[in-house]
Amino acid sequence: MVKNFNLMKIKNITCIGAGYVGGPTMSVIADRCPDIRVTVVDMNADRIAAWNSDHIPIFEPGLDVVVKRARGKNLFFSTDIDASIKSADCIFMSVNTPTKTEGEGAGRAADLKYIIACAEQIARSAQNHTIVVEKSTLPVRTAEKIKEILAKNSKHTFDVLSNPEFLAEGTAVKDLENPDRVLIGGENPEAIAALSDVYAQWVAKEKIITTNVWSAEMAKLAANAMLAQRVSSINSLSAFCEATEADIDEVAKVLGSDSRIGPKFLKAGIGFGGSCFQKDILNLVYLCEHYGLTEVAAYWEQVIVMNEWQKKRIAQLVIKKLGGSVKGKKIAVLGFAFKKDTNDTREAPAISVCETLLKAGAEVVIFDPKVSENQVADDLLHLSSQPSQFKCVNSASEACLGADTAIVLTEWDQFKSIEWLSIALKMSSGAWVFDARNCTNHTAIRAAGLNLWVVGKSNQSA
Ligand code: NAD
Ligand code: UDX
Repeated sequence: MVKNFNLMKIKNITCIGAGYVGGPTMSVIADRCPDIRVTVVDMNADRIAAWNSDHIPIFEPGLDVVVKRARGKNLFFSTDIDASIKSADCIFMSVNTPTKTEGEGAGRAADLKYIIACAEQIARSAQNHTIVVEKSTLPVRTAEKIKEILAKNSKHTFDVLSNPEFLAEGTAVKDLENPDRVLIGGENPEAIAALSDVYAQWVAKEKIITTNVWSAEMAKLAANAMLAQRVSSINSLSAFCEATEADIDEVAKVLGSDSRIGPKFLKAGIGFGGSCFQKDILNLVYLCEHYGLTEVAAYWEQVIVMNEWQKKRIAQLVIKKLGGSVKGKKIAVLGFAFKKDTNDTREAPAISVCETLLKAGAEVVIFDPKVSENQVADDLLHLSSQPSQFKCVNSASEACLGADTAIVLTEWDQFKSIEWLSIALKMSSGAWVFDARNCTNHTAIRAAGLNLWVVGKSNQSA
């Protein structure tokens, strides 16, 4: 296919990576830009098959409707990566960038093997001039490396832009349709303008921020670090509240009403999870160390230290409140996803809490409205001494049957209206509810005669 770049107008997008970012982002672009052909490719054939089916592989409110509207018209999901690269005038790289598990920087640096593989494949297959867009979250100065690979392995020309994604899971469609901002970093104003024109089809021009490439790469890491820092800050204060009879809701309300602080991201809980915060802060820490900024690295590392502490502290507190041992005790875990409205369990605090409880000999019964039994097994099987130590059930009520305690680990809306009165009758006498998300009906729990502990609150039962 011959591409027309005289006007630097994007007509044919390919996105490599059909995951939590590539799938939703491209679906919304296709939906909002009917004149652009969008193809999402992935080496995972099962994932692509799911995107082409009635059961798309990601649970995101509203996403199935958007996909259905555009799929087969100007939105396509395919495993034919080379053909799709060939026909594209703009290629998004939306592949995973996990923390390295071996080699230099293991445990901290981002593993760029998938990005490098993408760049090499683009260099092999691209025709004419192509805009290559970094959609994945990447270390500062990755664009330099991508340019080198492209220049070395292709006779064609490229522009490399950084266009990091700020969507949060559970609100991805809303975030994409009405973003706080779109960030485009680049060198060539024509390429920046071409990508801006795509977003400008539904995003107000003043919300499209353009910067140099390095600022864009850096700003994404910085945004995640600042957000995670707020969660660790409020969680640190939750422990302080528990020790002093202050109330975290009241404290957060006061903090949030200061317009300089703002009310969002001040919900104390079990700690942050998800595929991004920890990995991106670790990456930031690694980069700071690389540039000799030891104190800066140590500062950001504390955000993760506090997060780990919160998860462990609450799991240990459950054991302590249950008399110092949970061996043979039955524990209902309500919520397994790392936050509500997603089926994603990557870095879910529930995994860490379950690990502590399973290792202490508890029997764990899990209910999550969207996480599959297979996913839970993948996450927990290597942590339990015997597979029969944990199981999944289909309702909160079933999970609590005969349980010594229930722990709420995800703030699913349905947990607000659990019928504690009838559930309490099925639980052991003297049973506890640990609300590690501060999201249940505390009056109803107390009225049902259950002992209650809530994160960031004093006056806990027993
Ligand atoms: P994901 O693991 O859900 O999806 C990545 C996909 O890329 C996988 O399906 C994988 O098979 C595919 N892939 C990897 N290498 C490939 C290759 N060479 N060719 C074809 N396909 C390939 O990851 P994700 O959650 O979508 O994250 C992608 C990037 O976006 C990461 O850098 C992440 O940090 C960033 N990000 C994620 C979120 C989020 O909420 N998940 C938000 C903002 C940014
Ligand atoms: C995050 C960023 O918000 C998003 O901009 C980026 O693109 C990807 O990483 P995500 O991880 O999907 O998004 O969800 P987010 O809403 O940020 O929540 C992350 C974790 O922090 C969750 O475990 C959540 O429960 C926790 N959290 C968040 C709190 O415990 N309290 C809060 O007040 C906010």
